[in-house]
Amino acid sequence: MATVYVFNGPNLNLLGLREPQVYGSDTLADVEQMCARRCEALGLQLDFRQTNHEGELVTWLHEAGRAQSQGQAIGTVLNAGAYTHTSVALHDAIKGASVTLIELHISNVHAREAFRHHSYISPAAKAVMAGFGVAGYALAIQGLHDLSAH
Ligand code: DQA
Repeated sequence: MATVYVFNGPNLNLLGLREPQVYGSDTLADVEQMCARRCEALGLQLDFRQTNHEGELVTWLHEAGRAQSQGQAIGTVLNAGAYTHTSVALHDAIKGASVTLIELHISNVHAREAFRHHSYISPAAKAVMAGFGVAGYALAIQGLHDLSAH
């Protein structure tokens, strides 16, 4: 069974408590369950993680790229949180490891502060999703599945 990776960056462990007017009231555990249900329906295996550390995300992206190149994974959904707007290292990791990556944001970053409008992830991503709330995670998994079927 092929794997889908879902990686979450800094502060996403606070989902449900953190600015609920922006990010909603579901917790990260709720999001993981939602992703698990979608993966089960699609016959995929879910590997869902969160870290507050940039370097850990880099290491995980390398792992995801290796699994993909060995035919064991179809790609990665990444909500890099604030590292989206700062991290050349994540950009380089996605490209360097040849990860098929969906950049995901719960909120519509383009309708928010100007510093959220630039992404270092987007030029390295296969697709970008923002503003669907936490439902976007399941949509992104569906999108990776549909891409891999073509
Ligand atoms: C976010 C948007 C980022 O700007 C922010 O730093 C986050 C969450 C989102 O999911 O909407 O931490 O990636």
